[in-house]
Amino acid sequence: MSEKATLNVGGKSYEFDVITGSENETCIDIQNLRKESGIITMDPGFGNTGSCYSSITYVDGAKGILKYRGYPIEEVAAKASFTETAYLILYGELPNPQELRKFSARLKEHAPLHTNLEHHFSGFPREAPPMAILSAMLNLVSCFHPEVLEVPTTGEEFDRTASLLLSKVRTISAFAYRMAAGKPINHPNPNLSYCGNFLHMMFSDPHQEYEVSPVVDRALNLFLILHADHEQNCSTSTVRVVGSSRANLFSSISAGVCALWGPLHGGANTAVMMMLEDIKNSGRPLRYYLDKAKDKNDPFKLMGFGHRVYKNFDPRALILKEQVHQVQKALNIQDNLLDVALELEEFILKDDYFISRNLYPNVDFYSGILLRAIGIPLKMYTVMFAIGRMPGWIANWKELHDHNQRISRPRQIYTGETTRSFVPLTER
Ligand code: SDX
Repeated sequence: MSEKATLNVGGKSYEFDVITGSENETCIDIQNLRKESGIITMDPGFGNTGSCYSSITYVDGAKGILKYRGYPIEEVAAKASFTETAYLILYGELPNPQELRKFSARLKEHAPLHTNLEHHFSGFPREAPPMAILSAMLNLVSCFHPEVLEVPTTGEEFDRTASLLLSKVRTISAFAYRMAAGKPINHPNPNLSYCGNFLHMMFSDPHQEYEVSPVVDRALNLFLILHADHEQNCSTSTVRVVGSSRANLFSSISAGVCALWGPLHGGANTAVMMMLEDIKNSGRPLRYYLDKAKDKNDPFKLMGFGHRVYKNFDPRALILKEQVHQVQKALNIQDNLLDVALELEEFILKDDYFISRNLYPNVDFYSGILLRAIGIPLKMYTVMFAIGRMPGWIANWKELHDHNQRISRPRQIYTGETTRSFVPLTER
């Protein structure tokens, strides 16, 4: 017999089941609330509202815990490649050697773009934001692969479509960068690893193939692993909402790319670097920025700090911070933005405003410094987040269909004008 929650409103009592998840999280199942009482709940930003039951990722914000399919992020980050992580998130289990070989082969097979697709890149203006190109081109891919429009969520068809998306997101991203930089595109090289092939497509030149260093390859794998999924964040929820109308996977993911673009979400890694550059170049004391961040009349926020769920350190930030030190040492890089970031973090962690609001560095605070260390240009930072998040978006879209979830359609409380008679134009 499950525990019950009782709601007493307007002199009536309503009972609802209390549900407990596998990590002992508790929710009140109110899916019949409106039908039974005519009442709805209100939760702008959905900070207190569960949208689904999911077995993909678990986050404990109070303890700074993140697990992919039950594996702690620290272990996945230390022991897995991004390809293994993507397989785990998509299928729920780590691949055995044969499964990994087959999955990697599919990713290699799907790396090239249809020739006619390549021509579309030349239609974008040079200064086109890469996230706009990525979202547009992901939708466009389905025009050249109509078979993916009706993809089921199981079997070979799903495997093929998921691999196609995971693979082509790299190619589209690298092509977008090369076109914007006025450089010739580099076609994928099937002899390279997932990350090695991306770096080749980004940085090889006609006369000089990019040499993938193990340090950079490892750092990029780690960056993508840490971004692979994160429960029902803004962009993943967007993929689920669009997918709930039974829109195809490509259009659902394209919508997720647009949600990720915002500076409060995936755009934060770029905003952090611009903020650190401003702090470094302004000559202003850090106190100036902290006071701006506290000023309710000032829209300025300290980018890379705070999180809807983490009220402790974001474990990804801790892993990235360590990785930045390792990569800068291995590549003999001196980046004074890291010094600015470390000083800012130390300053903030002693400030009552931030302590009292549990504002800690999030995944975006150090990610940009790592990307800069491995040579990724600033305008590609949020695109890198999208490449990393692709497995999580696809897995959530799949889970939504596996659970045959209803179309998303929240309610509202109307606060506008009540009924009034229409006044003809001649009488106004
Ligand atoms: C990501 O959801 C995910 O999982 C996202 C993500 C993922 O992997 O998908 O983890 C990736 O998007 C990380 C977040 C990246 N964004 C930023 O770094 C932008 C800066 N951070 C803030 O905008 C903010 O912290 C959010 C958007 C991340 C969280 O916003 P919430 O949950 O709506 O928190 P809030 O705005 O209600 O903040 C609570 C208080 C407020 O002050 P009071 O009204 O209580 O006085 O904390 C303050 C806020 O003003 N606050 C900040 C702040 N973040 C929150 N004050 C200054 N600087 C900040 N960064």
